Formats: sequence, C-alpha cells, structure tokens
Amino acid sequence: MVAWIFIFWFMQINKCVSAFTYISSCYYRISEEFHHEGDVVIGAFFPLHTFHTKKEKPHSTIPYYYLDNKIQYNFKNYQYILALNFAIEEINGNPSLLPNISLGFDFYNVRFTGKYIHSNTFNWLTALGLRNYLPNYNCKKRNFTAALTGTSWITSALTGTLLQLFKFPQITFGPYDFHLSDRGQYPSLYQMAPKDISLSLAIVSLVVYFNWSWVGLILPDDHKGNIILSDFSEEMERKGICLAFVKMTPATWTSYFAKFWENMDETNVTIIYGDIDSLEGVMRNIEQRLLTWNVWIMNIEHHIIDIADYFMLDPFHGSLIFKHNYRENFEFTKFIQTVNPNKYPEDIYLPKLWHLFFKCSFSDINCHVLENCQTNASLDVFPRHIFDGSMSDESRSIYNGVYTVAHSLHEMRIQQLQMQPYENGEGMVFFPWQLNTFLKDIELKDKRSLDWRQTIDTEYDILNIWNLPKGLGLKVKIGSFSANAPQDQQLCLSEQMIQWPEIFSEIPQSVCSESCGPGFRKVTQEGKSICCYRCTPCADNEISNDTDVDKCVKCPERHYANAEKNNCFQKSVSFLAYEDPLGMALASIALCLSALTAFVIGIFVKHRDTPIVKANNRALSYILLITLTFCFLCSLNFIGQPNTAACILQQTTFAVAFTIALATVLAKAITVVLAFKVSFPGRMLRWLMISRGPNYIIPVCTLIQLLICGIWMATSPPFIDQDPQTEYGHIIILCNKGSAVAFHSVLGYLCFMALGSYAMAFLSRNLPDTFNESKFLSFSMLVFFCVWVTFLPVYHSTKGKVMVAMEVFSILASSTALLVFIFGPKCYIILLRPDKNSFNHIRKKTLSRRKNFSKI
Ligand SMILES: *[C@@H]1O[C@H](CO)[C@@H](O)[C@H](O)[C@H]1NC(C)=O
Ligand SMILES: *[C@@H]1O[C@H](CO)[C@@H](O)[C@H](O)[C@H]1NC(C)=O
Ligand SMILES: *[C@@H]1O[C@H](CO)[C@@H](O)[C@H](O)[C@H]1NC(C)=O
Ligand SMILES: *[C@@H]1O[C@H](CO)[C@@H](O)[C@H](O)[C@H]1NC(C)=O
Ligand SMILES: *[C@@H]1O[C@H](CO)[C@@H](O)[C@H](O)[C@H]1NC(C)=O
Ligand SMILES: *[C@@H]1O[C@H](CO)[C@@H](O)[C@H](O)[C@H]1NC(C)=O
Repeated sequence: MVAWIFIFWFMQINKCVSAFTYISSCYYRISEEFHHEGDVVIGAFFPLHTFHTKKEKPHSTIPYYYLDNKIQYNFKNYQYILALNFAIEEINGNPSLLPNISLGFDFYNVRFTGKYIHSNTFNWLTALGLRNYLPNYNCKKRNFTAALTGTSWITSALTGTLLQLFKFPQITFGPYDFHLSDRGQYPSLYQMAPKDISLSLAIVSLVVYFNWSWVGLILPDDHKGNIILSDFSEEMERKGICLAFVKMTPATWTSYFAKFWENMDETNVTIIYGDIDSLEGVMRNIEQRLLTWNVWIMNIEHHIIDIADYFMLDPFHGSLIFKHNYRENFEFTKFIQTVNPNKYPEDIYLPKLWHLFFKCSFSDINCHVLENCQTNASLDVFPRHIFDGSMSDESRSIYNGVYTVAHSLHEMRIQQLQMQPYENGEGMVFFPWQLNTFLKDIELKDKRSLDWRQTIDTEYDILNIWNLPKGLGLKVKIGSFSANAPQDQQLCLSEQMIQWPEIFSEIPQSVCSESCGPGFRKVTQEGKSICCYRCTPCADNEISNDTDVDKCVKCPERHYANAEKNNCFQKSVSFLAYEDPLGMALASIALCLSALTAFVIGIFVKHRDTPIVKANNRALSYILLITLTFCFLCSLNFIGQPNTAACILQQTTFAVAFTIALATVLAKAITVVLAFKVSFPGRMLRWLMISRGPNYIIPVCTLIQLLICGIWMATSPPFIDQDPQTEYGHIIILCNKGSAVAFHSVLGYLCFMALGSYAMAFLSRNLPDTFNESKFLSFSMLVFFCVWVTFLPVYHSTKGKVMVAMEVFSILASSTALLVFIFGPKCYIILLRPDKNSFNHIRKKTLSRRKNFSKI
C-alpha cells in the first residue's frame, strides 16, 4: 500500500511539474466577462476565478495588470457555464418554448470576495466600457431578462440590494437561504434551491446508525450557521448525541488561528454543514493540514482550486456527503462530451482547460486559438477532482433557473400576442420588471408538477468519497435517506461498501466514553457533557441488563442479583437440613450421645446394687440420665425444615428438658449437702430434711420453667421466619424466637439454676464424699454455665443456619458436660476399677475421710 501510494505520488508530482512547466502567459491573461449572443439575455454571475493578493511574487511571465496577483481558477464551477449553455441550447432548440426568440447570456466572473460584485452588476446593466458606469441607463441596447447569481448568499444579497432598486428579476442558484426569502428586502429575488428541511434529520440519522455519540460540528459564522446549529442541537439532543465542539468559521479562511484546529482530534466524526462559499476556507485548511483521521460528514463538496497537489493522501477520502436525490441527467453528460473551445469561441475558460490538460499551445496572435491538441481531448476525461461531469446541485438550479425564465418569457409573450396580435413577428419588447408577475406565478405553482424541476426536498443520496490515491475522485452512492418513509425505513445504507479513512481498519467509533455494559450504570460527571460518563457497578442486589443504563433496577422480592449484576435469580430456600454436612454431623453427634446416655443407663441398671450407684440417690441418677437423653434428642428438633410446631416444640422441649436436668443436679447437690450437714444448725435445713425437700425441687423448678414457657407461648410464640439477606442467593427459613425477652428469661433461669447447683456443690466440695460427687457436680455446672454464657454473644453475632447450629452445639456441649462430668468417673469405676466399687473399700475410705474431716 505504501509503495503504491509512493508510486502514484511520484507520478502526480511529475504530472504537476509538467503541467506547470509549459504554462503560457495566456493562461494568466483573463477578462472578467464574456457574452453568448441571443435576442434576450440572462446575466450570469458565477464565481470562477479569483486572485491571490499575497505578497509572494508570481511567475515572471504573467502579463500586465495581474502581475501583483496570482490568479486562481475554480474549474469545478465551470460546470455552471456548461449548465447554462445546456439549458439555453435546449430551450432555443425547442419549437414550443419561446419560438422565434433566442436566449443568450452575459457572463461575469464573481471574485470569491464581495469586493467587486457591484462593479460587475453596474457594468452589466449600464456600462459603455470598462469602468464607465451610468446608472439607470441601458447603453448596450440589450434585452435583459434576469440575473442569475450565486453561489454564496452574500453575492446574491449584495447583487440583490442593487437589482431590487429596478425590480430587476434575480434568480439565485446557491443553497437555499432564509435571509434571501425575505420578500420585503428582496422583492424580485427567486431561489431555485430547495429548502433543506430534512437534511439535519438525515445527517443525525446516519450518526445514530453508526452509534456515534460524540461528534464535532463546523458551521459558517453567519445567520445560517445559527439556524443550523439550533436545528442540529435539537435533533441531536433528542437522539442522545453530544457535540464535542462547534466551530463557527468566518468566511475568509486566511484568518484562521491555530486555536481553531486545537481540539479537532477529540472526535473521529465531524459534520461540516453550510454552503461551499463560507466553508471553502475550512475545507482548504483541512486539506493542507492533512487531517486524515476524521470522518467528515458534509452537505457540500470540496472544490480543488489548485491543480498543484503534492500529497497523495486526501483528508476527504472516506467522507460521507449528503446530496439531493436527483434523477441523473444523461443528456447533460452527452452534452459535456461535445464541448470544446471551437464550439464556444467566446468562452474564456475552455482554452485554459485545454491548455492545461491536453497540452495544447495558445496561438501567439490571440489567446483563444489552440494548436497541437491531443485528438481525444474532451471534458469527460478530466480527473474528477478537477472537473466533475455529473450535474451538481448548483448546476441543476441554474438549469432550472433558465427554464423558469424561459417559461415566464413564454407566458409573457403569449399574453403580449393576445393583446397586440398584429405585431406578430416584430420581436419582443418588454421591461425586465414585467417578468416578475410571471416568475411569481411559476414559483407559486407546485414545483414538482413542472417536469423541468424534479426537486424532491426530502430525499437525499449519501455518497462516499473514494479518493485514495488522490485523483481517483470517485463518489459512490452508498445509501439514501427519505424523510417521507416510515420512521425505521428512512435511512438505507450499504454499510459494507463504505470506504473509511485509512486509519480506521473497521467502522470508526466516536464516543466520549466507552459504553457501560450490563451490570454497570452511567455516572455523569460534573460539568461535562452527558455523553461523557464513568461506569460504576450496580449496587448490591441491583442489576442492569442493558448497556448504558442510567439506573440499575432492584431485583424483585425473593430474587437475587448474580455476580455479573445482569440478571435476577429466584432465591432458593435454605435451612439446616439433615442433608447438610453440618446438619448431618450435628444430628449424628446427637444420636450418638443419646445412644451413649442409653448405654450409661444400661450400665447403671446392670450395676444398680453396687455402692457407687446406690451411694448417690439412684432415682435421681436415673432421672438425670433419662432427661439427658431427651436433651440430646431435643437438639434434633432444630435440624430439618422448620414448621410452626417444630419451632414451638424446640424451645419448650429444650427449656423443660434442661430444667429437669438442672433441677435433678440441684437436688443431687442438696442431697449431698443435707447428708453431711445434717448436724448444722438451722431450721430451714432441718425443715428440708424432714419434709424430704429434694423430692420437691424437680417439680417446683420445672413448674416455674413451664410457667415462663406458658407465658412465652401465650404472648408471642416462636414462628417461622425468612432471612433473605444473610446468605447470598438463598432465603433462609428459620424459627424466630418470637420474644427475645422470654428466650433470655428461659436461658437466664437455666443459668440461675446452674449457678444454684454450683453453689450447693461448692459448699459441699470438702465433705468426705466417697466418690467426690460434689466436685464433679460443681465442675459440670461450671462448664454448663460457661457454655451458655459464651453462647449468648456468639449466638447474637451469627445469622442464619450457623445461628441454629450454634444453639444445637450449645445444647449438645452442655448436655455432654453433664453426662461426662457426672457419669464419666462413675462409669470408669464401675467398668474399669471394680475394686473401688466394693463395700469394703468404701468403708475404709469413709473412715479415713471421717478422720480427716473431724481433724479440721
Ligand atoms: C416564427 O417565425 C415564422 C417565420 O419566420 C412564422 O411563420 C411564425 O409564425 C413565427 N412564430 C411565432 C410564434 O411567432
Ligand atoms: C449500534 O449499536 C447496536 C446496539 O448497541 C448494535 O446492535 C449495532 O450493531 C451497532 N451498530 C453499528 C454500526 O455498530
Ligand atoms: C488521449 O490520446 C493520447 C494519444 O493520442 C493518449 O496518450 C492519452 O492517454 C489519451 N488520453 C485519454 C484521457 O484518453
Ligand atoms: C431586443 O428585442 C427587439 C425586439 O424584439 C429586437 O428587435 C432586438 O433585436 C433585440 N435586441 C437584441 C440585442 O437582440
Ligand atoms: C477514534 O478512533 C480510535 C481508533 O479507532 C479510537 O481509539 C478512539 O477511541 C476513537 N475516539 C473517539 C472519541 O471515539
Ligand atoms: C431486562 O430486564 C427487564 C426487567 O427485568 C426485562 O423486562 C427486559 O426484557 C430485560 N431486557 C433484556 C435485554 O434482557
């Protein structure tokens, strides 16, 4: 590719150098006007050449008064003259339109600056010769009809202010301008161009199609620019597109500061909208600065004025141009092939074109006759960036303008003939202002009903410029826009046909911020455009399933957001199940422990007559063991799917079983104390002894606990509750205690009893108890107490399943403590040290203990 460009570049340089080597002085000798004869004439004011007023010294061969200036041709506009010629020849050749009257034209060059415009107009209307004006006199005795002016609105406006003094009909072929449609200011001005009412919509639709949301806008700095800007802003705001910059350019391109181009690279897509005359300077700068990294969307085409061109890269390669959708005029294309300097000898531009491109030489006598031309010379072989054969919008307006004039003349002629039939054949006598009535009539008629005006305001072609290497100059239709079509069918594009500027390997992006994917939301930044934002992940349990959302949505009840935050899932129900490893472990431990307890019961029953079993109130031991079995089993209530019954049952069985167990321990401890302290003074003790107090302890204590439970169940019983927060993706079903106060009262009561038992056992720790019963009792109570006191903070700091497991664990641990510390040593003696479990041994031991005890 690079090599290819280089080769072309090299060839191009050669071409240019050769083109300039042989340039004759005739090329620089130019007049500002020429005339095409006819009975009635149209004044044509077209911009075709101008002069550089730079201080640089031009070529030495440049003749006389243009010596200080450098002439600059715009051969692309030469098409205007061709369109004018084409229309006039068609009309003159048409026997049913203006019969026996021929149309002609007077051409005047309009320099690209407004300076000499009035001089041309005066010259045309009145002049006797160069620079001798006599306003209000028509010294040339020519039958003027109308003036054709353009392309810039300033040219038309300036000419218009003069012409309206005479009510002289003026037809403009430049882009439609609201300013010129003011009938008060320009009563005899008629615009040929259609209003571009849908063009901003069309351009915005294209921008939306490619998901560009950050585009630049370059506009002319005049009344038009402001209208366009408000049009675009409105349309873009509706579609969520932001303007990265808006640059309003002054009409003279020499006054552009470096500042103007500063933030040009902020976007990849820039819209250039306006008329070519106001924006030519910008386009020229873009070309000179080689701004090749932008996709330009335009409603105008760049005119290359200089043929000298040393760069192969065209910044406008890959541009997209919106043009009115006209039927191709094949007659015009055919006409162009027939044009040559001999056919129109009066024409001052054709010889120059021929000289430049077909290497002809001017004759020395007059600069019009050419010699030694290539035989195949014809306008349609020109490079398209120099001269384009397909009819431009302006040319079409000129063509339509000439027809409008012809039709008006025709109508007027018919009217004249009806009024003065005898004057037949005498020719046409009229004042130009008389034409206005007929021009207005034609303007009022539906423009589309006239076959010579096929303007359809609302349809646009989208062209893609293929100009790599430069000079290729292809304009390829890649789509169209039709404002009248249904909303989603307005834009029609062949995306794969588009050639983008070289630096883009795929469809260009133009966004201020990368779009936020699902799971994220936009956060707009203070003081910045709404298209510039950061992405931030959705909050917990919120999702976004689309790109670029402003707000995340909360997942519905019983749903949870996945890790990507782009979908809500139904939560699954969770509880401490038997299948759960934790549940399974706890359940098996509970079962094992209750089996162990049952085993201990078995041992005790088997050895019921041994001293160790007998010594410690056999009945209480049995009660304690059976209660412990229930304690272990009651933990199973906590495992499995909870229901209301289970919830109530788990708390009550737990409370009651443990109360009985603790009451039994208390009874045991009191029994020991009573057994040894019977001689202690105290009526209470004695009363207890006599009334067999310990026997009442269990029922009384249980009754109190039952009372607490009763109040609890009656006021706010436990119920099934759901915890959707704790565990991700699950709803935990668990028993709510109903009343925390009640639950804590139950626990408190249990702990109080444990402390009571501990106190009793502690009092009797030094009594000569054969089997150290009180020591073990106090120890087990201490453990029991510790387990439940530790349980409380841990319990309150956990949630969900762990909370339940924690309670089960505490139940199992405290019951195990009772089992192990109270019955462990006894089983050890029964099973492994039967020698200690004999009455002889006990007697001996008791004696020695009694001795020790009495010594104290
Ligand atoms: C045109 O001129 C011819 C003869 O020169 C004449 O016969 C014919 O009537 C004229 N037509 C009109 C419309 O004046
Ligand atoms: C524009 O975005 C939409 C959705 O985000 C996508 O489907 C489409 O392909 C994009 N268009 C282009 C031209 O990238
Ligand atoms: C015109 O003909 C000459 C030879 O006469 C040839 O060299 C040249 O390439 C032709 N130009 C075009 C544009 O066909
Ligand atoms: C202007 O019109 C008159 C009358 O029709 C005609 O005689 C005269 O030749 C025309 N002038 C020119 C310059 O064509
Ligand atoms: C312009 O295009 C380039 C390359 O494709 C890309 O890296 C950059 O982000 C684009 N700039 C904007 C503003 O989108
Ligand atoms: C996004 O979620 C909403 C509501 O949850 C749903 O109606 C919509 O269809 C989803 N859109 C996509 C693209 O998944």
